[in-house]
Amino acid sequence: MAGLFVVGLALFLVARKVLVPVGFGELGHFRTGAIADNRAPKLVHAGRAACAECHSDEPDRLKSGAHRGVGCEACHGALGAHAAAETDVKPARPDTGTLCLGCHRQSVSKPAGFPQVDPKEHGDGSGSCGGCHDPHAPAEEPKAPPAEEAKKP
Ligand code: HEC
Ligand code: HEC
Ligand code: HEC
Ligand code: HEC
Repeated sequence: MAGLFVVGLALFLVARKVLVPVGFGELGHFRTGAIADNRAPKLVHAGRAACAECHSDEPDRLKSGAHRGVGCEACHGALGAHAAAETDVKPARPDTGTLCLGCHRQSVSKPAGFPQVDPKEHGDGSGSCGGCHDPHAPAEEPKAPPAEEAKKP
């Protein structure tokens, strides 16, 4: 019986040595190398505050409108590379036809209070939304085309 117990204990110690990753337990109940692993991926988003350092019109319009809670990069995509080298990486203008419906297409799975439209019934049938709504202030004068002064020359 005692022999069997010793063999079992030996097997356990060998298995533990093989299975526990290097660095585990040095700093706590985790693998020390995990800190470096988590730090390694490059940041791809710049964040809204960074955008506002160079762009002023869009952040100002966004602040007062229905999209105040939507981040710049939720629509424009990750733009960390643009913020780091603004003239080398020129962002594309999002296509409103696909962008807007990604959030606003009518669906029973969405909360009833969330503004949603059926593109077959709403709009001018062109499939585009930017002709009537300014993406940065979408509820403001929705019939007027996007404000010219909001555009950069
Ligand atoms: C360091 C300054 C700087 C930062 C930070 C910056 N931009 Fe820009 N952005 C520019 C400049 C300058 C241009 C014009 C580039 C050109 O015309 O070649 C531009 C162009 C753009 C355009 C294209 C405009 C057009 O006319 O088609 C978009 C969209 C844009 N930026 C969005 C953003 C967003 C969103 C952020 C935040 C994630 C951001 N930018 C951060 C300086 C910046
Ligand atoms: C709801 C989606 C959405 C959000 C949020 C948003 N944008 Fe835009 N943005 C667009 C679309 C769509 C266009 C293209 C408009 C066009 O082609 O006329 C655009 C155009 C731009 C342009 C080009 C100039 C212009 O006005 O046409 C800049 C610069 C810009 N956005 C910066 C920003 C910044 C900075 C933020 C955050 C403060 C932001 N955007 C937030 C959708 C968005
Ligand atoms: C990332 C998701 C997202 C995208 C993309 C987006 N929106 Fe929105 N939109 C929102 C949210 C969130 C609100 C605020 C809803 C609320 O207040 O309950 C909103 C509000 C609105 C409103 C105001 C509705 C009201 O009754 O007050 C309009 C109009 C609108 N969006 C149109 C657009 C258009 C046009 C586009 C494309 C340029 C667009 N949205 C792209 C998330 C989005
Ligand atoms: C011909 C102009 C026009 C076009 C094109 C258009 N809209 Fe609108 N939209 C309006 C007007 C006007 C309102 C306000 C009256 C209403 O609720 O119908 C509105 C309201 C909205 C609302 C708020 C609805 C609510 O329940 O509060 C959303 C969301 C919206 N539009 C999204 C879109 C999207 C997404 C597109 C592109 C597929 C689009 N719109 C294209 C004119 C337009």
